[in-house]
Amino acid sequence: MVVKYKLIKKDNKSHARLGILSTPHGEIETPVFMPVGTQATVKAMTPEEVREAGGRIVLSNTYHLYLRPGHELIRDAGGLHRFMNWDGPILTDSGGFQVFSLGPLRKITEDGVAFRSHIDGSSHFFSPEHAMQVQMALGSDIAMVFDECAPYPCSYEDSLAAKERTTRWALRCKEYHSHPEQSVFGIVQGGMYRDLREQSVDELVKLDFPGYAIGGLSVGEPKPLMYEVLDYTVPLLPEDKPRYLMGVGSPDCLLEGVVRGIDMFDCVLPTRIARNGTVFTRQGKLVVRNAAYARDFVPLEEGCACYTCRHYTRAYIRHLLKSDEILGVRLTTIHNLHFLLNLMEDIREAIREDRLLEYKDHFLKDWQA
Ligand code: GUN
Ligand code: ZN
Repeated sequence: MVVKYKLIKKDNKSHARLGILSTPHGEIETPVFMPVGTQATVKAMTPEEVREAGGRIVLSNTYHLYLRPGHELIRDAGGLHRFMNWDGPILTDSGGFQVFSLGPLRKITEDGVAFRSHIDGSSHFFSPEHAMQVQMALGSDIAMVFDECAPYPCSYEDSLAAKERTTRWALRCKEYHSHPEQSVFGIVQGGMYRDLREQSVDELVKLDFPGYAIGGLSVGEPKPLMYEVLDYTVPLLPEDKPRYLMGVGSPDCLLEGVVRGIDMFDCVLPTRIARNGTVFTRQGKLVVRNAAYARDFVPLEEGCACYTCRHYTRAYIRHLLKSDEILGVRLTTIHNLHFLLNLMEDIREAIREDRLLEYKDHFLKDWQA
């Protein structure tokens, strides 16, 4: 069985949609946020804690797991789900983005990318076929094509070349892939150029993927520019397939993405900022590590239903963080994941009740205050 998207409801006043994504490891409601578990773990969390915070599908990284512990080891362990004890859906990114981020450590040709490991400097080669082979061994529910993500800023010529290569590589991924329980999503590229994005969508839709990601965004461009690209790109995608905006996860971008018709998101933001002592609140980010909270005997966020806020104060969490106690980052991570996953739940409810735009204005007013 492969991934299937069922459109449940379209919002009247925006492009937002409510849907259900069926995977071999269960159904999830969309729009959805996917916590990131790069190294086969959502950092500092047990799978039970991810689930309790509201997580239903996690993302993991082909590049990291290929290098360590190796995809064959994970295959021999019974696949990624068993290896990490997560029995819900898993999406794996292809490694394209990670390998391209290596800068001087990599060399790109039409065949693929030669790169040096960020761990021990050893030499490796990744091709579209290899990225599929690794993801098939991992056994994720959703695999991503091996793409070329243009940086920002990027010339028209270079964005065009990356878009064209992404299409050719998407075809190679599709032809090589053979795993009856795994679906492969295409990735739209084309930088910040409207005609390139249109071409990318056209070319990928012809290949008929069961879902489409929008890549090459949140790469340093201003947010209004990202929203503009979404405005003209998302409506071109088939209505009966899920749309996934890669690497985006700040609360304001989630809302702006949903109203433009995005169904899936992933980002390291909530878990990463948690580890350096920053937490989300309805009034924006709060650096609980700061001295200002040393004697603040209230929860991270008043009224938050997460495990952390039900039991601990800002003063205590600050103390843990300052003392480098492991529990500190566990507690901030639980809260941040709960905050974003609860926001997505609120968003789905608002779509269901025809009040998404009102909810968005209300949320952003508090958030930007
Ligand atoms: N994660 C964030 N952006 C991208 C992208 O453009 N491609 C891939 N493969 N992963 C991403
Ligand atoms: Zn909380």
